[in-house]
Amino acid sequence: MSENFATLSIGETTYKLPIVRGTRGDKAIDIRKLFKETGYMTLDSGYMNTGSCSSSITYLDGAKGILDYRGYAIEDLAKNCTFTEVAYLILHGVLPTFDELKSFKQDMRRFALLHEDMIHFFDHFPPNASPMSILSTTVNSLHNYYPEMDEEDAYGGLTVTTARLLAKTRTIAAFSYKKSIGHPLVYPSPKLNYCENFLNMMFDRPNLPYKIKPEVVSALNKLLILHADHEQNCSTSTVRLVGSSGANLYASISAGVSALWGPLHGGANQAVIVMLEDIYADDKDFEKYIAKAKDKNDPYRLTGFGHRVYKTFDPRAKIIKKACDEIFKKLELEDPLLDIAKELEERVSQDEYFIKRNLYPNVDFYSGIIYRAMGIPTDMFPVMFALGRLPGWIAQWTEMKEDRENARIGRPRQIYTGNKRREYIPMKERG
Ligand code: SDX
Repeated sequence: MSENFATLSIGETTYKLPIVRGTRGDKAIDIRKLFKETGYMTLDSGYMNTGSCSSSITYLDGAKGILDYRGYAIEDLAKNCTFTEVAYLILHGVLPTFDELKSFKQDMRRFALLHEDMIHFFDHFPPNASPMSILSTTVNSLHNYYPEMDEEDAYGGLTVTTARLLAKTRTIAAFSYKKSIGHPLVYPSPKLNYCENFLNMMFDRPNLPYKIKPEVVSALNKLLILHADHEQNCSTSTVRLVGSSGANLYASISAGVSALWGPLHGGANQAVIVMLEDIYADDKDFEKYIAKAKDKNDPYRLTGFGHRVYKTFDPRAKIIKKACDEIFKKLELEDPLLDIAKELEERVSQDEYFIKRNLYPNVDFYSGIIYRAMGIPTDMFPVMFALGRLPGWIAQWTEMKEDRENARIGRPRQIYTGNKRREYIPMKERG
């Protein structure tokens, strides 16, 4: 018998709190009236036990390693779809028909250029500027060039703004790379699809044309699909929270980019390569780095391992690891870091500390190895994560906006641990 209420006793009083259930068996105690009825808040630093919203976009089962977008298994989508197709699914809730996908692609083609004035932005970033700071800054500035999104947003839809964001962030990413290496910009081509265009804009040169390889395009599609959404993670929650104040979509996405930048989140794919290079350079002293990660007095962690929700193998990491092997075999590539990664995974899987804490490779552990094989610079790996996550951020922001019943600014409370009320001390009396 599944209970419909939780009871909470405070002193002599007992309260009944409704239990809400998701379509996949997930359940929560609804505390939306708790403070009003009891005068008590809940305290949940890091929101380990707190659901911030209801959503129909992505479902995770951390115990079983399940990830579905709009009900479709990630394994099926990564195997059968392009990133553009999955972006449409996440944004609209259905897999597109041939004509719907064609129209979506046309919109992205139409909006792929940056306003020429924006291209001067890249002239004024220092050569070593972080691609994530460039992305966050430039995305935020899109509102200055396309303020009409406010009207479109007011009447719903956001079709143009969505296509604009998906297409222009890819252009911003590629342009920032070209500027960082002093090469001429390569403009998006109407003849190429999303991933082909990105690779061409990154690596084509007037004197050395880039040969687009289907294996690389396929691997990039898979990687972007696997990053496309992940329910209420740190950066998605940031996008929702910023949007809940009424800030425009560009500003909300820019905030999401900033949240993703952190090494505990999307910055981990870059940090994994640094960790693997350190182990490789340190005569492959795996045990030294594993011991550091286990040492409570050392803040060092094995980046690419562990997850707030997955307490088993991250399903995305499984697919990425297989894609790694495939692309390396097909293109006859070699990278000592792939061997280091596999040996580290094997050693960790045997170690009681990691087993006890359910620490497995997450989405960031192998993804950087593939980006490296594509020739993408390490400091752009978090940008790749952002390009993949963009459809999810937009869909989650839109879902938040359309949730009229819960349409309110996000504003958590706190438990105060500071000074009690005290008298003001004039300057001349201060010690
Ligand atoms: C992403 O939320 C999402 O969905 C995120 C993401 C997405 O798609 O949006 O999946 C993308 O961000 C993946 C995670 C990328 N980050 C890393 O790989 C950084 C390394 N991992 C960790 O820092 C950590 O595992 C987190 C941040 C991912 C999760 O942290 P939690 O849930 O707050 O867990 P915790 O820090 O409380 O760790 C629990 C225990 C602790 O030990 P004890 O205090 O119980 O003794 O596990 C230990 C931690 O010290 N631990 C690790 C570890 N991760 C956790 N110890 C060594 N190495 C690690 N990587």
